[in-house]
Order: sequence, then structure tokens, then C-alpha cells
Amino acid sequence: MSNILITGASGRLGELVIYSLLEKGIEANQISALVRNPEKAEALKNKGVNLKIGDYDNYASLVNAFKGADKLLFVSANDMNKRVSQHENVVKAAKEAGVRHVVYTSIERKNETEKSPLWVITEAHLSTEKWLKESGLTYTILKNNLYMDYIPVFIGNKVLETATIYLPAGNGKVSAALRSEYAEATANVLTSEEHENKAYDFTNVEAYSYNDVAKYISEITGKTIQYVSPGADEFMQALTDAGVPAEGIGVLLGFAVAQDQGDLDFISKDLENLLGRKPTALKPYLETVYSSEN
Ligand SMILES: NC(=O)c1ccc[n+]([C@@H]2O[C@H](COP(=O)([O-])OP(=O)(O)OC[C@H]3O[C@@H](n4cnc5c(N)ncnc54)[C@H](OP(=O)(O)O)[C@@H]3O)[C@@H](O)[C@H]2O)c1
Repeated sequence: MSNILITGASGRLGELVIYSLLEKGIEANQISALVRNPEKAEALKNKGVNLKIGDYDNYASLVNAFKGADKLLFVSANDMNKRVSQHENVVKAAKEAGVRHVVYTSIERKNETEKSPLWVITEAHLSTEKWLKESGLTYTILKNNLYMDYIPVFIGNKVLETATIYLPAGNGKVSAALRSEYAEATANVLTSEEHENKAYDFTNVEAYSYNDVAKYISEITGKTIQYVSPGADEFMQALTDAGVPAEGIGVLLGFAVAQDQGDLDFISKDLENLLGRKPTALKPYLETVYSSEN
């Protein structure tokens, strides 16, 4: 087995991919983890995973860290203001370091224009996909839809108290899947063949609206939850009045409006095929979150 390097290894997705690789029997010394702060990766080091120090902002550190890697899992960065140049650094450094194959965690989307409510997120992904394709590197693009783990975050921790889900997503649906299952499927891509120069739609096999979320939480908790979909302006004003920071409002609004517009409503079997089973559905996941809160 060749050497696999995982970026974003101190983050949740990257770490889950590494644990999935280890569970699949990949030797720890065949796995390298790119981190900018080694203290955040002590547990990986203790498992025998090689730590490589590098920062997406520091091109030379990336070239140095990527040398000797055959496959590279490029986990997209999380700083929306710096991501475009950071991602350009990663693609160029992979090329210069002689990496053979880059697997990239992108985003699912229908709207690829600047008018997309998620443009702040999609811009870097679209550029990165283009750079990868133009680079001559072998690539695999994994278009992850929303992490299902974010649905409880988006509806907020007061949902049972207020008995209301308040988001401007209309009747739009999202085929969200668990982050851990995107990670598991990603580990399967990294350890099997025939993914060269392909793109996969990593989505659930059904899509859900916030009416579904309200219905499921009502069934799970026995408390009737209503779903209210305000206009975007009313939503922004209400959250501003409640003291929510502008950046947080922007993310909530972007995902909700994109969902309302149908941008996140994809049904694909790619994730199911690469997992070898159906992804976890929404209701069983919500049971793990809300069932003890009756
Ligand atoms: N599909 C979705 O719903 C969804 C939701 C959230 C995020 N995402 C995207 O998916 C990615 C992975 O998700 P996640 O949950 O694992 O996010 P996460 O826990 O925030 O992890 C992000 C990782 O990127 C690393 N990183 C950030 N800036 C870096 C830099 N300049 N140089 C080197 N490493 C850097 C972080 O390192 P540190 O530990 O040092 O900060 C961390 O390891 C996110 O970064 C974001 O692009 C997707």
C-alpha cells in the first residue's frame, strides 16, 4: 500500500478518515497527517501515524510535507476569507512535490454562479476543481452535501423549548448525510482503484425538508414542533435582534436559501455505493440527538 497523506487531519473529517483507514487495516506508518499544530494530533501520533507540519498559507511548508506522498486527501480549508489562495497553494504544492493522485473534498451544488446563496463557500471549491483538472494531477472530486450533523446546529439548541424551527428554507430539501459516513466512503476511495479523474456526488439517497425535521423531532420527543419559514429579511432582523453574529447569520441564511432554491436537493447512489450500504437516514440520526430529551 502506498503512502497516503491526509490534510486537515486535526479536524473532524480528516481525523475520521484516518481512523477509518486504520480500521480497514492500513498500517499507521503508511498514513501521514498534515497539521499546522502538532499538539492537536497527539492521539494520531500515538497510533503511529506520521505527522507532517504544514500550513495552507505557507507554500514551502506544503511542498516539503507532501514529498513522498503517493495519494493526498485534500480536506478543504475552513477560513472563507483566505480559502481561495490557500487552495491554490495546496494544488500547486501537490504538483511540485510529485504527488500522484489528489482526492479533494468539494461541495455539492447546482448553482455555480456568483448569485448562489452559498457563493462564499462554492467559489473556492469551483476554482479548486478547475485547478486540479488543469494541473495534470490525477484527481478524484468528492462533492459532499451538507453534513447531517449540522441540522441540529442550524435549528438551534432551544428547539424543544420554543417548539419551533425558524429557518428561511421553505419546502426545499437537502440530501444531507453524516460526516462520519462521508469520511468512511472517502477512506474507501483512498484504498480502492478506478476513481481516477472522476467526481462523485456524496449525498444521501433521500432528501429532507425542515417539515420532515419538525415531524421527526415531534415523533421522537412527543412534543409538537412547528416549522416556520420567514422571509430572508425578517430572518436576518430577528437573528440580529437576538444578538447572533453577522457571520453566523450569513452561513445559516446561505444554507437555508440554497435549500429553498433546490440547490442541495440531489439524489445520488455514489455515497451508498462507496459505503456498501445505505447512508444513515435522518430520523435514526435525530433519535441519537433528541431521544433522551423527552
Ligand atoms: N459539507 C458540509 O456540511 C461542511 C460543513 C463544514 C465544513 N465543511 C468543509 O469540510 C472541511 C472539513 O470539515 P471538518 O468538519 O473536518 O472541519 P474542521 O473540523 O473545521 O477541520 C478543518 C481542518 O482544516 C485545517 N486547516 C484550516 N486551515 C488550515 C491551514 N491554513 N493550514 C492547514 N490546515 C488548515 C484545520 O486545522 P486546525 O485544527 O489547525 O484548525 C482542521 O484540521 C471544512 O474545512 C470545510 O471546508 C463542510
